[in-house]
Amino acid sequence: MAINSPRGTSDIFGDEIFYRDCIVDSAKKLFELFNYTRIITPAFEHTEIFNRGIGKSTDIVKKEMYTFPDRKGRSLTLRPEGTAPVVRAIIEHKLYSSKIPIKLFYIENMFRYERPQKGRMREFWQLGVEAAGVDNPLIDAEVIWLLALIFEELGFKNLKLLINSVGCENCRPQYIGVFKDYLKPYLESLCPDCRERYNTNPLRIFDCKIPSCIKIINNSPKIYSHICGRCSSHFKKVIELLKILNIPFVIKEELVRGFDYYTRTIFEIISEDLDSVQNALGGGGRYDKLIEQFGGPSIPSIGFAVGIDRTIVLMKQLGISWQIKKEPHNVFIILLEERFENYGLEFLNYLRRSSIKCDISFEIKKISTQIKWAEKNGFSHAAIIGEDELKSDNITVKNLADFKQSQFNWKKEPQKIYEILK
Ligand code: HAM
Repeated sequence: MAINSPRGTSDIFGDEIFYRDCIVDSAKKLFELFNYTRIITPAFEHTEIFNRGIGKSTDIVKKEMYTFPDRKGRSLTLRPEGTAPVVRAIIEHKLYSSKIPIKLFYIENMFRYERPQKGRMREFWQLGVEAAGVDNPLIDAEVIWLLALIFEELGFKNLKLLINSVGCENCRPQYIGVFKDYLKPYLESLCPDCRERYNTNPLRIFDCKIPSCIKIINNSPKIYSHICGRCSSHFKKVIELLKILNIPFVIKEELVRGFDYYTRTIFEIISEDLDSVQNALGGGGRYDKLIEQFGGPSIPSIGFAVGIDRTIVLMKQLGISWQIKKEPHNVFIILLEERFENYGLEFLNYLRRSSIKCDISFEIKKISTQIKWAEKNGFSHAAIIGEDELKSDNITVKNLADFKQSQFNWKKEPQKIYEILK
């Protein structure tokens, strides 16, 4: 029997939880500030949602989905990303009928059958937002601003925000024709994957990491110079607004991103301190046609997702830990004999009702051993319960930093504990 977690998954505990909580808490505050509310979607969906949403010729759909039949033979897939499920939910519950824009955020685990490496997992966590219903570039800027703020709040300094426009359903096909004409003479020099992409989804060639393909693409015409007037003025406005917000960015004409649903603005936040293969901490873009493609009304939308696991890898690598404050457990209750247990429980109840973090020793051991254990486990104080305490209700509290002792009658002066622990 295998007693290890499946490849590409991990148990999350200890310090890892502090990092996670810190990222999630800080992002949640920003989501609230920006007027987003939370949505939780199921961990699996009908496979069709991803086939149609992400696109059949994308790497995710072709190679990376955890797809399985249920007991009635229906094809289900563990979500590899959050946008398609949120779009499905918006349509299913007609969320657009009560409020536009619909501003939702999610914090969820995702599943992709990828080759695991540091920062690349088969089960990983994302936090993301989807804002549906607005075509105005103002919301593009707002969403990108939110993404940048998430990392700024965490204390990151040298991240790079890349942006590009991939045009719309009118101008993109024209560009693809120009791009294919350019590639034609080089077809034999492209890798087998890119040769296939040439026929199925040529824009994916921009994602290829093989040097010989990159060399060919470097000199190719880029979509940015081929977008239509409408897309171009939308993009120019986004840039203007980002400048007003003082958000530094770089226009990267090769940026395409791996989903078919994107239209117009796309963006990615990367760190050059991470391995170049998985240097993206977050990314997103517009998907103006997706809701309509799913049978809903025409609702232009935009969103992004941040990889929590990858963000933690970089926080640790860069030593960003100032946010991670471990709240000390305040009081450790030490019982001198077993017969003081009932009294100890009463005192524990009083402390917890006073919102003081505390714990009690479950075994009777030498007092010095117990104090050492309390110090090692982050308690700031120890309360020792013996015969005198039981008779008088006077509890002795020892400060474990300077070993100063204070006594108080917890039944008569219940508030005094706050003074002692200050
Ligand atoms: P994505 O670029 O595929 O976009 O994922 C967003 C982030 O999730 C990545 O930048 C990365 O940090 C993290 N990530 C992706 N795959 C893995 C993995 N295997 N292991 C660890 N972290 C990973 C999306 O998922 C889109 N749904 C974003 C979006 C929302 N676009 C519009 N709305």
